[in-house]
Amino acid sequence: MRAILITGTDTGVGKTFITYNLARSLKERGVKVGCFKPVETYVMNVPEDGRLLATATGQEIEEVVPFTYRLPLSPRAGEIEEGKEVSLRELEGHFRRLTNKYELLLVEGAGGIAVPIKERYTYGDLARDWRLEVVIVGRAGLGTINHTYLSWFYTKALGLKLRGIVLNRFTGEDISERTNPQIIYEMTGMKPLCIRESNSLELPERDRVALLELVGL
Ligand SMILES: Nc1ncnc2c1ncn2[C@@H]1O[C@H](COP(=O)(O)OP(=O)(O)O)[C@@H](O)[C@H]1O
Ligand SMILES: [Mg+2]
Repeated sequence: MRAILITGTDTGVGKTFITYNLARSLKERGVKVGCFKPVETYVMNVPEDGRLLATATGQEIEEVVPFTYRLPLSPRAGEIEEGKEVSLRELEGHFRRLTNKYELLLVEGAGGIAVPIKERYTYGDLARDWRLEVVIVGRAGLGTINHTYLSWFYTKALGLKLRGIVLNRFTGEDISERTNPQIIYEMTGMKPLCIRESNSLELPERDRVALLELVGL
C-alpha cells in the first residue's frame, strides 16, 4: 500500500486537476486507487475538489472529504474563524481505513506544503506522520522558481520522500517556461515534468503516461 501527497506551490496551481488525471489513469491500468482530501475549505454545500476526485475513482464524496470549512482560507484559519476543530485522530482513522481499502491512495493537500491544518501542524507534518510520498505541483511560468525551490527545500528539511515535481499549464508562450525546468533541475537535482495547458479536463495520453511514470508506475 502506497500513499502520495499531491501538494502544490500555491492554491489554484492544478493539484486537483493532476490528482484527477492520475486517478483516472491508475484506474484504467487496473490499480485499485482511492483519493483523499483530508480537509477542503471554501465549501458551501458540496466540496468541489472532492466531487471531481470522486468521479475519477467512483468513491462517495464523504469518503474522499471528511472535513470541510466554509471560508476560502487555510484549514487552520477555518478552525480559528469557524470554531470547528479538525481532529487529527479522526483524520488518521479515516486515512487508515482508506489505506486498507485501496492499493494506492492519492492525498490532495490544501494550498501548499507549509499550509497549516492546525496550530503548529502543516501538510508537511501530516506527510511525515503518515509517511506519505510527495509530488509538488507548480506553475510552469514566471514566479515558479522561488516557490518550487522553497517547497522542495521544506520537503527535504522534513525528510520526506519526494517523488517528483510537476510544472503545470505549460503553454510555450512565456519565455520563462523554457528555462524554468532546467533551472529547477540545477537547483534541486530533480527533472520536473512539464504538463501542458489542456483544453479538456482529460489530459492527453502522453501526459498521463508521464504522470504514471512520475509516481513509479
Ligand atoms: N494543465 C491544465 N490545463 C488546463 N487547465 C488546467 C490545468 N491544470 C489546472 N487547470 C485548471 O486550473 C484551475 C485550478 O486547478 P485546480 O486543480 O483546481 O488547482 P488546485 O487544486 O491546486 O487549487 C481549474 O479550473 C483546473 O481545471
Ligand atoms: Mg484543489
